[in-house]
Amino acid sequence: MSHQPSPDATLVILTGAGISAESGLRTFRAEDGLWEEHRIEDVATPEGFRRDPDLVHRFYNERRRRLAEAQPNPAHEALARLEATWPGEVLLVTQNVDDLHERAGTRNLVHLHGELLKARCEACRNVVPWPGDLDRTTVCPGCGCSGRMRPHIVWFGEMPLELDRVGEALARCALFAAAGTSGHVYPAAGFVELVEIKTHTVELNLQPSAISHAFREQHLGFATETVPRWVEGLLQGIGRS
Ligand code: APR
Ligand code: ZN
Repeated sequence: MSHQPSPDATLVILTGAGISAESGLRTFRAEDGLWEEHRIEDVATPEGFRRDPDLVHRFYNERRRRLAEAQPNPAHEALARLEATWPGEVLLVTQNVDDLHERAGTRNLVHLHGELLKARCEACRNVVPWPGDLDRTTVCPGCGCSGRMRPHIVWFGEMPLELDRVGEALARCALFAAAGTSGHVYPAAGFVELVEIKTHTVELNLQPSAISHAFREQHLGFATETVPRWVEGLLQGIGRS
């Protein structure tokens, strides 16, 4: 039975790698996962970057190239339609570093773990759009330093971005949904425990996750089927479908 929040309600939706899987971008913890060819500590930690920056730059350069060939899928599009049609605020909080939510039309968006198409200078902290390759000789367009640019990605052991903005929205939302996340990585996996007791919680995932127990409503299946159907139900409930 789907729950119907009032039209002025704030909705917060957390997404993970599962929502981009059907766009051809690999998830992290499936058997064919991204980490197969690389150990997490080698490509997703500050220590790994210090140890072998060329390996880390190659890893993210390859992911940027793969992202350029990917397209948003019906799940991304349904969430963009929800934001455009829902009268209250819809905040999308993604753990994904791809730009598929933006390309589908989502505007009110937090990239908790950074963005693949941006780079950051370790000398001046400047963050710039970066669709192309990065390497050890790249010059910072801000301060002119060379060799100090890194992917604008939050690595393990680093602080996720905009947590205060997310916490504020979680405290006042009437509905919290999680789509395509295995619930293994904190703080995102703990968001469902932070919402008010009266907040309705919905999980949309291919299979049960590590946090399924915390959700009142669950839709199992492919995101390109479950997310559009769930969004349609919400919009029909307020006569806006
Ligand atoms: N439709 C819906 N769900 C899917 C689909 C699909 N087509 N394919 C996979 N899933 C589900 C899987 O069942 C799994 O529960 O998506 C989830 C993906 O889990 P992970 O690979 O662990 O990705 P995520 O939860 O986003 O990882 C969180 O961990 O590695 C770090 O920073 C990285 O942001 C990432 C974080
Ligand atoms: Zn700089």
